[in-house]
Amino acid sequence: MPVLTILPSGKTIEVEPGSRLLDAILKAEEKIQSKCGGEAKCGTCHLFVQEGKKSLSKTTRAENEQLDTIVGVGSKSRLACQANFGTENVTVELLGFDSGR
Ligand code: FES
Repeated sequence: MPVLTILPSGKTIEVEPGSRLLDAILKAEEKIQSKCGGEAKCGTCHLFVQEGKKSLSKTTRAENEQLDTIVGVGSKSRLACQANFGTENVTVELLGFDSGR
């Protein structure tokens, strides 16, 4: 199973392929907001994928549109609620509360 590493804490957790990045982060008991309930409408789950971006599902149009509204978005940005795991390890960096807004 792929391993998710969560920065800045460095916590790691094994993840089922196909599971949602947001769910894996919550399962690891890390703090991440998801104000819209995972519908790509709030941007509060914005994070940076530092490694393994290709292992995640492709960015959807809804995700891209939401990312366009967030300050500080870069090439590593994803919405945790919209990214599903493949089979490779992934490292993400949480940006802290309200970083997406
Ligand atoms: S939880 Fe709202 S955009 Fe991801």
